[in-house]
Amino acid sequence: MMRWINRLFARGEPALSEAGARDAHAIARLHGISFRRGWSDGEFERLLIERNVVAHRATRGRTLDGFILSRLAANEAEILSVAVSPSRRGNGLARALLNLHLRRLAGLGAQAVFLEVDEDNAAARRLYARAGFQEIARRAGYYQHAGGNTATALVLRRDLV
Ligand SMILES: CC(C)(COP(=O)(O)OP(=O)(O)OC[C@H]1O[C@@H](n2cnc3c(N)ncnc32)[C@H](O)[C@@H]1OP(=O)(O)O)[C@@H](O)C(=O)NCCC(=O)NCCS
Repeated sequence: MMRWINRLFARGEPALSEAGARDAHAIARLHGISFRRGWSDGEFERLLIERNVVAHRATRGRTLDGFILSRLAANEAEILSVAVSPSRRGNGLARALLNLHLRRLAGLGAQAVFLEVDEDNAAARRLYARAGFQEIARRAGYYQHAGGNTATALVLRRDLV
């Protein structure tokens, strides 16, 4: 019965809500398949119980489709990670998560949001450009790719006021 109910919810549109320590395992799993260097359940658990960490998730039933996570310090926030499940990409989910997240950060007093993105990550760059982020610095050789190649990190900023 429970499995049937879960399957029913898993078919619909994802619901967006705040994420917490109970989501650490699912977030670590999605992070692990989305990035070259994964973070452990414990690392996410520690982050998600920090008072100044803000996190949102997209779920269908018990299935995690996406998440976004930031740390807020004084009136500035840094987006630490965002990912959408590979089978759910390209449907505007990251955009919806980012919009909700930025509204929440603004509500908590953030005046500017920063992040680092791989210059070669076309999807993420488009996501941030559409949300009004602008490049403020470049860090050459910042990311290690498979095979020993490196890539440039772009530091982006968006003002919320
Ligand atoms: C980056 C990521 C979160 C985007 O998630 P998503 O739900 O597919 O994104 P959306 O559907 O909301 O699309 C956001 C924008 O990116 C564009 N986009 C999506 N996939 C793309 C691709 N493969 N190449 C180019 N642009 C792409 C969309 O067209 C959209 O732009 P638009 O609003 O101008 O049409 C997802 O690809 C992902 O999880 N990647 C692995 C983890 C990662 O790289 N995170 C970012 C680290 S900084």
